Amino acid sequence: MQIVHSLDPLRSAVNALRQAGPLALVPTMGALHEGHLTLVREARRHARSVAVSIFVNPRQFGAGEDLDAYPRQLERDCALLAGEGVELVWAPTAEAMYPQGYATNISVSGVSEGLCGGSRPGHFDGVATVVCKLFNQVRPDVALFGEKDWQQLAVIRRMARDLDLTLPHVDAIIGVQTAREEDGLARSSRNAYLTPEQRGQAASLPAAMRKAITAIEGGGAVDAALATLADDLLAGGFASVDYAELRDAQALAKLDSAIDRPMRLLVAARIGKARLIDNMAVVTRT
Ligand code: PAF
Repeated sequence: MQIVHSLDPLRSAVNALRQAGPLALVPTMGALHEGHLTLVREARRHARSVAVSIFVNPRQFGAGEDLDAYPRQLERDCALLAGEGVELVWAPTAEAMYPQGYATNISVSGVSEGLCGGSRPGHFDGVATVVCKLFNQVRPDVALFGEKDWQQLAVIRRMARDLDLTLPHVDAIIGVQTAREEDGLARSSRNAYLTPEQRGQAASLPAAMRKAITAIEGGGAVDAALATLADDLLAGGFASVDYAELRDAQALAKLDSAIDRPMRLLVAARIGKARLIDNMAVVTRT
């Protein structure tokens, strides 16, 4: 497994891998867990070689967010990736990614608005910008992202379509189902911020979401189901709820009532030092 930190060796490594066959990219910010490894294993099903990027992207963190605290453990991450047979790790320095004088920003309107875009202003500009750079740097045939960041996936797909990025087709951006702990909590690097007590309480998030989904799918009023969801989270130990919304699964339009198309329940809530997000499918049974 090659580990590279700057663009020249990256280009040589990518050229060699691309000659051998299709190349998959799994973009990450490190602190890898089983969810990332699921992406890597899925990547292997779509390509001859797998590249993983590890870069804690400062442009997607707002003032007062957890950029400094975000776990950084490159050596451990690389050992995990070597165990998965990954061919290439692209771990750029901040200087390699954003050299002196860097001045370009990518902003995707529509799908970036509201939800995490509302509570984290500028976050999706940072994500779209770094992912566009990663696509140009690695030139993958496919790229894989976790569905846990549902809105992020929508932003990246929109950006790739709008900018005619070099991935062969839009289906080359593959969303992979959220990996969950036994109690249903979505796996996330930020779960590491939780104390044991908070970790137990955090399981109320998927439980409350499933309850709301049962209510909505059973024909209950959406606003009542979402209000109960928020109450359940606060009763379960969460300090606050950033949002709990029902949206059209693709266009992400906000819904006040159920529709006859795939929908998504999306939630962000704070517990201890962590802000946890999750989303689940909602389907009407008409
Ligand atoms: O999902 C993440 O880990 C990040 O937002 C990503 C896509 C690697 C961009 O920094």
